[in-house]
Amino acid sequence: MANDQEKVLAARASMQFVEDGQVVGLGSGSTAAYAVQLLGERVRGGLKIRGIPTSVQTQQLAEELRIPLLGLNDVQEIDVTIDGADEIDPELRLIKGGGGALLREKVVASASRKMVVIADSSKQVPRLGKFPLPVEVILFAETVIRKRIAALGANVKLRQYAYGNPFTTDEGHHILDCSFGEISDPPALDRELKSMAGVVDHGLFINIAAVALIGKGDRVVELRRDAKAEHQDHVKTGNHEGH
Ligand code: A5P
Repeated sequence: MANDQEKVLAARASMQFVEDGQVVGLGSGSTAAYAVQLLGERVRGGLKIRGIPTSVQTQQLAEELRIPLLGLNDVQEIDVTIDGADEIDPELRLIKGGGGALLREKVVASASRKMVVIADSSKQVPRLGKFPLPVEVILFAETVIRKRIAALGANVKLRQYAYGNPFTTDEGHHILDCSFGEISDPPALDRELKSMAGVVDHGLFINIAAVALIGKGDRVVELRRDAKAEHQDHVKTGNHEGH
Protein backbone atom coordinates (compact mmCIF):
# COMPACT_ATOMS: atom_id res chain seq x y z
CA MET A 1 0.00 0.00 0.00
CA ALA A 2 1.22 3.52 -0.81
CA ASN A 3 0.81 4.64 2.81
CA ASP A 4 2.86 1.73 4.06
CA GLN A 5 5.68 2.56 1.70
CA GLU A 6 5.62 6.15 2.97
CA LYS A 7 5.63 4.94 6.57
CA VAL A 8 8.65 2.73 5.91
CA LEU A 9 10.50 5.58 4.20
CA ALA A 10 9.83 7.92 7.13
CA ALA A 11 10.89 5.25 9.62
CA ARG A 12 14.09 4.64 7.68
CA ALA A 13 14.86 8.36 7.61
CA SER A 14 14.46 8.54 11.40
CA MET A 15 17.38 6.15 11.89
CA GLN A 16 19.82 9.05 11.34
CA PHE A 17 18.71 10.45 14.71
CA VAL A 18 19.72 7.36 16.68
CA GLU A 19 23.33 6.91 17.77
CA ASP A 20 25.27 4.33 19.69
CA GLY A 21 24.85 4.52 23.45
CA GLN A 22 21.56 6.41 23.41
CA VAL A 23 18.36 5.90 25.36
CA VAL A 24 15.58 5.82 22.76
CA GLY A 25 11.84 6.30 23.29
CA LEU A 26 9.99 3.72 21.22
CA GLY A 27 6.65 4.99 19.92
CA SER A 28 3.45 3.05 19.28
CA GLY A 29 1.30 2.41 16.24
CA SER A 30 1.99 1.00 12.80
CA THR A 31 4.52 3.64 11.67
CA ALA A 32 6.50 3.53 14.91
CA ALA A 33 6.53 -0.28 14.62
CA TYR A 34 8.51 0.05 11.37
CA ALA A 35 11.09 2.17 13.23
CA VAL A 36 11.26 -0.38 16.05
CA GLN A 37 11.84 -3.13 13.46
CA LEU A 38 14.68 -1.13 11.92
CA LEU A 39 16.19 -0.48 15.34
CA GLY A 40 15.98 -4.23 16.01
CA GLU A 41 17.97 -4.87 12.85
CA ARG A 42 20.58 -2.32 13.91
CA VAL A 43 20.79 -3.84 17.40
CA ARG A 44 21.40 -7.24 15.78
CA GLY A 45 24.17 -5.53 13.81
CA GLY A 46 25.84 -4.25 17.00
CA LEU A 47 24.14 -0.92 17.82
CA LYS A 48 24.02 -0.39 21.56
CA ILE A 49 20.86 1.39 22.63
CA ARG A 50 18.34 1.02 25.42
CA GLY A 51 14.70 1.52 24.57
CA ILE A 52 11.81 2.92 26.57
CA PRO A 53 8.58 1.52 25.12
CA THR A 54 5.45 3.70 25.10
CA SER A 55 2.97 0.81 25.21
CA VAL A 56 2.68 -2.84 26.14
CA GLN A 57 2.38 -3.64 22.43
CA THR A 58 5.65 -1.87 21.61
CA GLN A 59 7.31 -3.50 24.61
CA GLN A 60 6.34 -6.93 23.25
CA LEU A 61 7.65 -6.10 19.78
CA ALA A 62 10.92 -4.73 21.18
CA GLU A 63 11.36 -7.82 23.36
CA GLU A 64 10.85 -10.08 20.33
CA LEU A 65 13.52 -8.07 18.52
CA ARG A 66 15.83 -8.27 21.57
CA ILE A 67 16.16 -4.54 21.97
CA PRO A 68 17.39 -3.95 25.54
CA LEU A 69 14.68 -2.08 27.45
CA LEU A 70 14.48 0.17 30.48
CA GLY A 71 11.61 1.67 32.44
CA LEU A 72 11.21 5.42 32.46
CA ASN A 73 11.99 5.42 36.18
CA ASP A 74 15.43 3.99 35.42
CA VAL A 75 16.68 6.94 33.37
CA GLN A 76 17.32 10.63 33.90
CA GLU A 77 16.67 11.64 30.31
CA ILE A 78 15.78 10.12 26.96
CA ASP A 79 18.00 11.13 24.05
CA VAL A 80 15.47 10.75 21.26
CA THR A 81 11.95 9.42 20.84
CA ILE A 82 10.60 8.23 17.51
CA ASP A 83 6.83 8.03 17.25
CA GLY A 84 3.97 8.31 14.79
CA ALA A 85 1.01 10.72 14.77
CA ASP A 86 -2.58 10.88 13.62
CA GLU A 87 -2.30 14.51 12.47
CA ILE A 88 0.58 16.98 12.11
CA ASP A 89 0.03 20.69 11.52
CA PRO A 90 2.56 23.19 10.07
CA GLU A 91 3.78 24.10 13.60
CA LEU A 92 4.42 20.42 14.31
CA ARG A 93 1.52 20.29 16.71
CA LEU A 94 0.09 16.79 16.74
CA ILE A 95 -2.98 14.76 17.44
CA LYS A 96 -1.95 11.37 18.82
CA GLY A 97 -3.66 8.50 20.55
CA GLY A 98 -5.42 6.74 17.69
CA GLY A 99 -3.87 3.56 19.08
CA GLY A 100 -4.74 4.50 22.66
CA ALA A 101 -1.16 4.98 23.93
CA LEU A 102 -1.23 8.79 24.18
CA LEU A 103 -0.50 9.05 27.90
CA ARG A 104 2.74 7.09 27.96
CA GLU A 105 3.64 8.56 24.56
CA LYS A 106 3.30 12.10 25.87
CA VAL A 107 5.24 11.34 29.05
CA VAL A 108 8.08 9.72 27.10
CA ALA A 109 8.18 12.40 24.39
CA SER A 110 8.16 15.17 27.00
CA ALA A 111 11.07 13.54 28.82
CA SER A 112 13.09 13.38 25.60
CA ARG A 113 15.70 15.81 24.33
CA LYS A 114 14.21 15.37 20.88
CA MET A 115 10.98 13.91 19.54
CA VAL A 116 11.06 12.80 15.92
CA VAL A 117 7.64 12.21 14.36
CA ILE A 118 7.33 9.81 11.47
CA ALA A 119 4.26 9.61 9.28
CA ASP A 120 2.82 9.02 5.85
CA SER A 121 1.55 11.99 3.84
CA SER A 122 -2.09 11.50 4.89
CA LYS A 123 -1.21 12.75 8.39
CA GLN A 124 -0.11 16.22 7.31
CA VAL A 125 -2.96 18.73 7.72
CA PRO A 126 -3.25 22.53 7.56
CA ARG A 127 -5.26 22.52 10.82
CA LEU A 128 -5.78 19.89 13.48
CA GLY A 129 -9.19 18.42 14.20
CA LYS A 130 -10.46 16.20 11.44
CA PHE A 131 -9.18 13.22 13.41
CA PRO A 132 -11.20 12.86 16.64
CA LEU A 133 -9.11 14.00 19.60
CA PRO A 134 -8.57 11.18 22.11
CA VAL A 135 -9.05 12.25 25.72
CA GLU A 136 -7.99 9.79 28.44
CA VAL A 137 -10.22 9.88 31.52
CA ILE A 138 -10.52 8.07 34.83
CA LEU A 139 -13.50 5.72 34.83
CA PHE A 140 -15.06 7.46 37.86
CA ALA A 141 -15.36 10.77 35.99
CA GLU A 142 -16.31 9.50 32.55
CA THR A 143 -19.91 10.76 32.37
CA VAL A 144 -19.12 14.17 33.87
CA ILE A 145 -16.21 14.73 31.49
CA ARG A 146 -18.23 13.53 28.56
CA LYS A 147 -20.86 16.20 29.23
CA ARG A 148 -18.28 18.94 29.77
CA ILE A 149 -16.48 18.18 26.51
CA ALA A 150 -19.78 17.95 24.61
CA ALA A 151 -20.63 21.41 26.00
CA LEU A 152 -17.50 22.70 24.22
CA GLY A 153 -19.14 21.66 20.96
CA ALA A 154 -17.59 18.25 20.36
CA ASN A 155 -19.25 15.03 19.39
CA VAL A 156 -17.96 12.66 22.09
CA LYS A 157 -17.77 8.87 21.78
CA LEU A 158 -16.49 6.38 24.31
CA ARG A 159 -13.89 4.23 22.55
CA GLN A 160 -14.96 0.58 22.45
CA TYR A 161 -13.50 -2.71 21.33
CA ALA A 162 -15.24 -4.36 18.35
CA TYR A 163 -17.14 -6.63 20.75
CA GLY A 164 -18.59 -3.63 22.59
CA ASN A 165 -16.65 -3.34 25.85
CA PRO A 166 -14.96 -0.02 26.56
CA PHE A 167 -11.35 0.17 25.40
CA THR A 168 -8.99 0.30 28.39
CA THR A 169 -5.58 1.95 28.15
CA ASP A 170 -2.31 0.47 29.44
CA GLU A 171 -2.79 2.70 32.50
CA GLY A 172 -6.33 1.40 33.11
CA HIS A 173 -8.32 4.40 31.87
CA HIS A 174 -10.97 4.94 29.20
CA ILE A 175 -10.73 7.09 26.07
CA LEU A 176 -13.28 9.58 24.80
CA ASP A 177 -12.86 10.28 21.08
CA CYS A 178 -13.89 13.91 20.67
CA SER A 179 -14.71 15.28 17.22
CA PHE A 180 -14.32 19.04 17.39
CA GLY A 181 -13.97 19.65 13.67
CA GLU A 182 -11.24 22.18 12.96
CA ILE A 183 -9.50 23.13 16.22
CA SER A 184 -8.94 26.87 15.86
CA ASP A 185 -6.82 27.34 19.00
CA PRO A 186 -5.06 24.11 20.04
CA PRO A 187 -3.22 25.66 23.07
CA ALA A 188 -6.55 26.98 24.44
CA LEU A 189 -8.19 23.57 24.04
CA ASP A 190 -5.14 21.96 25.67
CA ARG A 191 -5.55 24.22 28.72
CA GLU A 192 -9.32 23.75 28.85
CA LEU A 193 -9.09 19.95 28.79
CA LYS A 194 -6.22 19.79 31.27
CA SER A 195 -8.23 21.92 33.69
CA MET A 196 -11.02 19.31 33.89
CA ALA A 197 -10.59 17.16 36.97
CA GLY A 198 -10.78 13.55 35.85
CA VAL A 199 -9.02 14.12 32.52
CA VAL A 200 -5.69 12.32 32.71
CA ASP A 201 -4.35 13.68 29.43
CA HIS A 202 -5.31 14.17 25.82
CA GLY A 203 -3.80 13.63 22.40
CA LEU A 204 -2.79 17.21 21.58
CA PHE A 205 1.01 17.42 21.55
CA ILE A 206 2.05 21.07 21.48
CA ASN A 207 5.68 22.26 21.48
CA ILE A 208 6.85 18.68 21.90
CA ALA A 209 7.85 17.42 18.44
CA ALA A 210 11.12 18.86 17.11
CA VAL A 211 11.27 17.16 13.71
CA ALA A 212 8.70 15.52 11.46
CA LEU A 213 9.69 13.11 8.70
CA ILE A 214 6.83 12.67 6.27
CA GLY A 215 6.88 10.07 3.55
CA LYS A 216 5.55 11.50 0.29
CA GLY A 217 5.51 9.05 -2.59
CA ASP A 218 9.09 7.87 -2.89
CA ARG A 219 10.71 10.68 -0.88
CA VAL A 220 10.73 12.01 2.65
CA VAL A 221 10.06 15.62 3.61
CA GLU A 222 11.69 16.86 6.79
CA LEU A 223 9.96 19.62 8.78
CA ARG A 224 11.45 21.33 11.82
CA ARG A 225 9.61 23.24 14.46
CA ASP A 226 9.87 26.98 14.19
CA ALA A 227 13.43 27.98 15.18
CA LYS A 228 12.12 30.61 17.60
CA ALA A 229 9.96 28.08 19.43
CA GLU A 230 12.90 25.68 19.63
CA HIS A 231 15.03 28.44 21.10
CA GLN A 232 12.39 29.23 23.73
CA ASP A 233 12.22 25.57 24.72
CA HIS A 234 15.98 25.45 24.89
CA VAL A 235 16.04 28.39 27.28
CA LYS A 236 13.18 26.99 29.36
CA THR A 237 14.51 23.47 29.80
CA GLY A 238 18.23 23.78 29.28
CA ASN A 239 17.95 20.97 26.74
CA HIS A 240 20.20 21.19 23.78
CA GLU A 241 19.47 20.12 20.26
CA GLY A 242 21.84 17.44 19.04
CA HIS A 243 21.03 17.98 15.38
C1 A5P B 1 -0.80 5.54 19.23
O1 A5P B 1 -1.53 5.78 20.40
C2 A5P B 1 -0.80 6.74 18.37
O2 A5P B 1 -0.47 7.93 18.97
C3 A5P B 1 -0.04 6.53 17.08
O3 A5P B 1 1.23 7.08 17.11
C4 A5P B 1 -0.84 7.17 16.03
O4 A5P B 1 -2.17 6.71 16.19
C5 A5P B 1 -0.33 6.86 14.63
O5 A5P B 1 -0.54 5.50 14.36
P1 A5P B 1 -0.19 4.89 12.95
O6 A5P B 1 1.27 5.04 12.77
O7 A5P B 1 -0.61 3.44 13.09
O8 A5P B 1 -1.00 5.62 11.95
